[in-house]
Amino acid sequence: MTPSPWWERAVGYEVYLRSFSDSDGDGIGDLPGVLERLDHLDELGVELIWLTPFYPSPQADHGYDVADYRGVDPTFGSLEDVDRLVDELHARGMRLIVDLVPNHTSDRHAWFRSALNGPDDPYRDYYVWADPGPDGGPPNNWVSHFGGPAWTLDEASGQYYLHLFLPEQPDLNWANPAVRSEFDDILRFWFERGVDGLRIDVAHSLVIDPRLRDNPAPGDRPTDPRELFAAFEHRHDLDQPGVVDIYRRWRKIADEHDALLLGEVYLVDPGRVARYVDDGALQLAFCFSVLKAGWDAAEIRQTLARAVTAVGDRAAWPLSSHDEARAASRFGGGPAGTRRALAYLTLLCALPGVPFLLQGDELGLADGRIDRDEATDPIAVRNRGATGRDGSRTPVPWAPGPALGFTDGTPWLPVGRNRTPADTVAVQRDTADSPLSRVSRLLAVRRDLAPWTIDEPPEWIGGGRLVAFRRGRLTAACNVGSEPAALSVPAGARVVYASAGEATVADGLVRVPGEATVLVVDDAAGRS
Ligand code: GLC
Repeated sequence: MTPSPWWERAVGYEVYLRSFSDSDGDGIGDLPGVLERLDHLDELGVELIWLTPFYPSPQADHGYDVADYRGVDPTFGSLEDVDRLVDELHARGMRLIVDLVPNHTSDRHAWFRSALNGPDDPYRDYYVWADPGPDGGPPNNWVSHFGGPAWTLDEASGQYYLHLFLPEQPDLNWANPAVRSEFDDILRFWFERGVDGLRIDVAHSLVIDPRLRDNPAPGDRPTDPRELFAAFEHRHDLDQPGVVDIYRRWRKIADEHDALLLGEVYLVDPGRVARYVDDGALQLAFCFSVLKAGWDAAEIRQTLARAVTAVGDRAAWPLSSHDEARAASRFGGGPAGTRRALAYLTLLCALPGVPFLLQGDELGLADGRIDRDEATDPIAVRNRGATGRDGSRTPVPWAPGPALGFTDGTPWLPVGRNRTPADTVAVQRDTADSPLSRVSRLLAVRRDLAPWTIDEPPEWIGGGRLVAFRRGRLTAACNVGSEPAALSVPAGARVVYASAGEATVADGLVRVPGEATVLVVDDAAGRS
């Protein structure tokens, strides 16, 4: 029997480094800041820490523009800090995965600086170059995720280079074997340093149509860049044949180190995500469809059922992410949004697969409110009227006081006008019914329940406003309505967790409070 992988029992936690904790007063979160806060993560009960990019970078896209894949930007600390973090996490039984950005580099990366010397440069073919189209403009109709065409003209050579994100993020040419072998070495570099795995940025990208054919264009062209990008059918620039082969190659390297490859496969159809976790490819992929469901029973049921059927225990379930609105905001904001987010997290914790929190989700935070002129996300700054991603990225509120304990200086992004002392870790830690107390308890209950040991897939029960499923001895029931609802459960079943209020079993019925999820265990089923 193959031993079960170490990550299957974990709950994941995204540390968005710039906003986690600042140790030196420059207003930007850093690695020593993370080291100072490990007790919080330990007490919370998360075991798999994903750290967003710390590499040397001009920060055009807040670190997702990497100028050196083997270094640490002095703003964030040093390589020794990464080593310390690995050691300290391991000493606490936690693991570290780092962000790898293989689709593009920074335009300040030495490879791209060299490539700009012209078509004969040895690094030219590390990137995607093309002559102008017949009209003298870009070679095809591909658009950037962040607004405008996906091509920028290099006037010196008269050729365009591809960038599916910012012009400062030129796409690498994955058809070039030299690029593949560079990344083999980069993977080994981090695994040999002791990191436990990688979160692979835009894992469904990398490979493009060699003929650079146009994508089928939408009838309407929304002005918001992300909506425009989504309006195209990405037939030739995303999710192309051959991309999964890259991960099969990486998997061999990862397996030598018992390391985890977790893909940011941002495809909303879980059936397409599933291909990335086929045997021999990635071990886990984020399933982003779960970020798209609104607070509606039918929508949640259908979204979760489809995702579980397609990806099952190879899924990582993001409650929130630094690229989208936080769960509490998506579900309406205010106290109701927080309650609903905790209910949703409880459902995710009972599914097969690995649930993931974004820092601050454990505090029930909605997006931080900032003024338009305080925006820093390039999506907002470079496109008139577009909404950026700053709201889910505001600093973690640690304690009442200046900058809510995040920094002694001026935070790089305001902490959010809507934050109050009740949002902080220090206050919530001492408050019995706070989101932090509820989430810590949920994670402890999950460790006891060990849903990863249950072989049965969810059997969907309930209906109407109750989203409920049974897996072996475990029943999870989320009441999307505001009034209490009842669900029949086997005699002898007991409530082990409620995300809000109190839940009880009487006369074969569990009473589920409004906008809450309860977890119920039937010990008799567990023994059979
Ligand atoms: C991923 C990251 C996002 C970044 C983009 C480009 O989607 O999560 O923050 O802007 O890739 O690297």
